[in-house]
Amino acid sequence: MCGIVGYVGNRNCVATLLDGLKRLEYRGYDSAGIAVVEDSSLHCIKECGKVSVLEKKIGEEWPLWPEKACHIGIAHTRWATHGAPSCINSHPHIDSSGRFAIVHNGIVENYAALKRHLIDHGHTFNSETDSEVIANLISECYNGDIFAATAAALRQIVGTFGLAVISLEQPDTLIVARRGSPIVVGVGNSENLVASDIAAIVAYTKRVIFLNDDDIALITADRIDIRNIDNVPVAREIAKIDWSIDAAEKQGYEHFMLKEIFEQPEAVGNALRGRIDEQNITAILSGLSMTPREMTQINRILVAACGTSMHAGMVGDFFFEDLAGIPTSVEQAAEFRYRNPIIEPNTLIIPISQSGETADTLAAVREAANKGATVAAICNVVGSTIARESGRGVYLHAGPEIGVASTKAFTCQVSVLLLMAVKFARTRRLDRENAKAILDEVKQLPELIRAVLAMAENIRVVAEKYGSADNFFYIGRGYLYPVALEGALKLKEISYIHAEGYHAAELKHGPIALLEPKVPVMALANDIPGKDKILANIQECKARKSPVIATATVGDKEVESLADDVIWIPACSKYVAPIVTVVALQLFAYYVARMRGCEIDQPRNLAKSVTVE
Ligand code: M6R
Repeated sequence: MCGIVGYVGNRNCVATLLDGLKRLEYRGYDSAGIAVVEDSSLHCIKECGKVSVLEKKIGEEWPLWPEKACHIGIAHTRWATHGAPSCINSHPHIDSSGRFAIVHNGIVENYAALKRHLIDHGHTFNSETDSEVIANLISECYNGDIFAATAAALRQIVGTFGLAVISLEQPDTLIVARRGSPIVVGVGNSENLVASDIAAIVAYTKRVIFLNDDDIALITADRIDIRNIDNVPVAREIAKIDWSIDAAEKQGYEHFMLKEIFEQPEAVGNALRGRIDEQNITAILSGLSMTPREMTQINRILVAACGTSMHAGMVGDFFFEDLAGIPTSVEQAAEFRYRNPIIEPNTLIIPISQSGETADTLAAVREAANKGATVAAICNVVGSTIARESGRGVYLHAGPEIGVASTKAFTCQVSVLLLMAVKFARTRRLDRENAKAILDEVKQLPELIRAVLAMAENIRVVAEKYGSADNFFYIGRGYLYPVALEGALKLKEISYIHAEGYHAAELKHGPIALLEPKVPVMALANDIPGKDKILANIQECKARKSPVIATATVGDKEVESLADDVIWIPACSKYVAPIVTVVALQLFAYYVARMRGCEIDQPRNLAKSVTVE
């Protein structure tokens, strides 16, 4: 989705803005642009396509920029919503008087009415976007006070915004505001930065302030003044980012996705660190802020999430029911608020989101909070909106996930869900001995994942054998059913192969009609409960002449004799099998996509963080 970077300080800002934009590329975008104040004018350059194309255009159109005194600027990567991807529609947008430049993430729902009003008052428009309205609205409201003008404009907007503004009226002041779309302020020395995502600015400062909804910040090189939309000063804490820029760089890997797949032993290790209570044989999850008594009172769990996070939630469903005996269901976050969910006093809502900014999941959190539910989020991005609005929860500590295809977030989410389930289960029916067996295996997770990664080359060979297929099925049962869904999602999003994840038993209720020699089936046949049934499903596929690739527990001759190809998974219980097995499927999808020459880190049409409904 769209990305924002802004700078005000002592340096020439162009290189910093371009660097920030490059660090936002992973979010997905179709055009980019920058605007800076230079010599009492607004200098704006925009281009369709990649940031590198914009950089080239800046070099051609403005070769002398390194010598210029441009100390304040804003920049944007756009992911089209209103108006096609084009140079005109890309941001920044400048009002028709040429005094105010804005970049905007979000949607102005009432833009058509506002635009008509502004046209009636003499403003003109160049683009088809909703965002251009904001630039003209600020201009219309300007009466000598830039804060008042921004606040007055934003009060008229129905919708969401993460906004950055520069102006010729107050050329030393960068203004940012948010409602429903994140903005973070990076606190520097004699310079300050802003962004929609920490990754854009972490190379310059690790001290950040997360704005709340309806905050407006006026920022100069050495001052940050935050007020709410009603002009009341608000105090916001400075948080310290605990990861460095290295974590957001490829470090020799061909793609971020591959790096993040290989980071999983450490990422899962970080998600588990300090969270196992050896004495009481349970999990330590202080962010849950629940007493054992409060935990025993929870009699229903609802998980709300999207995409990969929803698949993690589906594994969590097994954990909570199997271990703790708490009825659990997983809701597509997009449906949550529309189906009037039944939330009783002792229902716990668990939103799961890597980014913590997914619009549908956030809406579910708000719906749940309105209905008085206890909400405990599982998020990766510290300070994200879902984490803050949920009030309680568990961070993954997986480090930044840059690849659009979620990998390490999934394995960390499932690891945390397992700890959570053990914690709830220990207040109920899980005895010390069984809890210890599970937690001992949890501690082995980094090693188990390393064992899968060690087989990357074998997985590559299998992937390239099947990589030219047009259609794929992934089948699984029980704990591995959500992993089948996740494996298929990974394949389709980065390789563009049509892949369907199915419960193995459902095959014969319809999809089996599609099986034929050109349609390979990935069967998750690890040696955990349900394996005998999967063997029968493999037979069904073979009878329709579909080639079968199976994941199998190392040394399993039975599966080896049935499947055309085997991806070996180290022996492990059903509890950790989803985490260990998915790593092999991530690698499989990665190598297929690489063989097909796909843009792995930024697949077409996809955004890392889906901040619109
Ligand atoms: O940031 P979130 O976990 O809330 O994102 C949810 C989905 O958009 C995300 O998992 C998406 O499905 C990924 N592209 C999957 O790889």
